[in-house]
Amino acid sequence: MAYAPTAPHLDFAAPPSPARLVVLVSGSGTNLQALIDACADPAYGATIVAVGADRDGIAGLERAAKAGIPTYVHRVKDFPERTEWDAALTGTTAAYAPDLVVTAGFMKILGGGFMRRFEGRIINTHPALLPSFPGAHGVRDALAYGVKVTGCTVHLVDDGVDTGPIIAQGVVEVTDADHEDGGDALHERIKSVERTLLVDAVGRLAREGHSVHGRRVLPLTPHQ
Ligand code: GRF
Repeated sequence: MAYAPTAPHLDFAAPPSPARLVVLVSGSGTNLQALIDACADPAYGATIVAVGADRDGIAGLERAAKAGIPTYVHRVKDFPERTEWDAALTGTTAAYAPDLVVTAGFMKILGGGFMRRFEGRIINTHPALLPSFPGAHGVRDALAYGVKVTGCTVHLVDDGVDTGPIIAQGVVEVTDADHEDGGDALHERIKSVERTLLVDAVGRLAREGHSVHGRRVLPLTPHQ
């Protein structure tokens, strides 16, 4: 069953410090590394209690292991039904009792069970300025469209693909040279903005809590 928000207005109080984060990854994990580095400072207010993945042998899992963070892997192909994969991912993630779940380059659509269990507390980062260019090829699609600026979006996850309420966005200029390498250099520039944006957004939600009002994500405790 698909997830649908249970209320137009949801409040999430700031958890006890440090907030517990579970990070889900599928690849190189440079966004994960930025979070690991940020969590080393007690003032950041969060700690990564586990890193989950949908595949083995990725640098993201190595980064977690090197930092002494527990890891787990659930591969879709190991389950007869997608709903069973969803149940396994939900169960293992829930066992770490996260306050927030961060999908940082996690290349699978989360299931309805996962969405319901962590409603309003799943943060994703996407390498384009949503609502433009959602999906797995945000950088390539923006380049192909001929945009002059693109960027990255940190947002709450809902049951659509990259459609949830926006928390923060960063802008990156596209140059003529970007069309020559298919977007690799552009993606690297986006990721350098994205890491800072993600670290700032996650830290803010961890320290202050948050409120979801329809499409807006607001601090629960207003800035003084
Ligand atoms: C990021 O650009 C993320 O937005 C996209 O994949 C990239 C992951 O990079 N979905 P990394 O694994 O964090 O280095």
